[in-house]
Amino acid sequence: MHDVMNLPRMEFPKGFLWGSSTSAYQIEGDCPHNDWDRGAREGRWKEACGKACNHYALYKEDVELIRSLGHPAYRFSIEWSRVEPEEGRFDAAATEHYVDLCRRLTAAGIQPWVTLFHFTNPIWFADKGEWNKEENIGCFLRFVEYIVPKIAPYAEGWAPINEYNFYSGAPNQPEDHRRLANYAFNVLLADAGAYDIIKAHSAKPCGSPMAYLTLQPFRPHDPFDQAMTDYADWVANGWYYHAIRTGELVYPFTDARYCPQVKGRADFWGVNIYARDLVDSRRKACRADGRYPHRALRLVQSAEKPWEFSPDELMANLCRLKDKPVYITENGLATDDDRFRIVYMALHLAAIRQAMDFGVDLRSYFHWSLFDNYEWGSFDPKYGLVGFDKKTFARQPKPSAWFYKDVIAANGVSGDLVRKHLADVPSMPVACHRQGPS
Ligand code: FCB
Repeated sequence: MHDVMNLPRMEFPKGFLWGSSTSAYQIEGDCPHNDWDRGAREGRWKEACGKACNHYALYKEDVELIRSLGHPAYRFSIEWSRVEPEEGRFDAAATEHYVDLCRRLTAAGIQPWVTLFHFTNPIWFADKGEWNKEENIGCFLRFVEYIVPKIAPYAEGWAPINEYNFYSGAPNQPEDHRRLANYAFNVLLADAGAYDIIKAHSAKPCGSPMAYLTLQPFRPHDPFDQAMTDYADWVANGWYYHAIRTGELVYPFTDARYCPQVKGRADFWGVNIYARDLVDSRRKACRADGRYPHRALRLVQSAEKPWEFSPDELMANLCRLKDKPVYITENGLATDDDRFRIVYMALHLAAIRQAMDFGVDLRSYFHWSLFDNYEWGSFDPKYGLVGFDKKTFARQPKPSAWFYKDVIAANGVSGDLVRKHLADVPSMPVACHRQGPS
């Protein structure tokens, strides 16, 4: 049983980097030139992004906010569709906006960590077939060539492309594997090309964050559950690490492809880590979704989406990544009850600290997210340390923001800090048992 109120004090090494993460489209607002915004105009999403958090207009104030919350680093993305709204036409004002954001962060003592692509395609790029066509890679690299030298004087860390494994092959997707393998291959090449451009301009660390899916067999010793878990893990995580380690793309039901130019093109493993899935070979969907909640820390967001968290499994998984420094580039929780965010953070930080004891070279923790942002179709999931007034956009830091500030100041987490910010552990099923045999 995790006793979050009585966690022993766990100190992080000097120089461990703390911060928060966002992406441009999810917070900026008024961003008409990408495919997500077009999707909203076509009525494809539950809600449109609209003004989001109005961050594009309020970025100066937001830099002050980040400073007041004590974050030494801030990960954000540059919206390609603003900088290059039409193919080959670069927008000077948008470029200057991002340079100024970096300048102000640096002046405020906050390290800018820059993502160059976070899910949104410029409409012109989407219409060309985006990442599905190898000949389109050059479009992205032209943008990278343009923007990197301008940002390089400020960036302290780089993430060329966010979570391309998430788009290219989450487990159990019925899509055609050949198409996904092709997509994965193209994005690997684009990522490696961007890495080389960045390295020509900056000595700072560079790596593309992956959505690390934590997968476990539903029946721990059942051979079919184990086999399905290995398969799902390969399609979600494994191919990426293998490709960067060896320059070989091994994808199910396709011939292996060789891309030596990809080998070694990451200075660190960027890990976005949220929930875990139990893989059940007896179910059509291959997922155990929400059954046996006692086997995980289960913070239910909604009846349709019971997410399960398992800090112990997170730690076990990080131990697979000992061959490079690991940066946690996202970790967070969607909840309307901010107390769960404190519990979640404390337990995950404890697990991360433990992974360090087990030999993982962990360098950062970026919390997702700074704001209650636009979560790809809806504002319902609340990931933010900071909420905002829908009419005035006034920022409203939550108790978890002050908890996190104290964690950063203490360079560690402890039951004392949890108790300071949380009168009691919320009564929802924070059933914190380790996964046991079924
Ligand atoms: C990650 C994405 C990020 C956000 C969080 C909740 O997969 O990188 O944009 O949606 O999930």
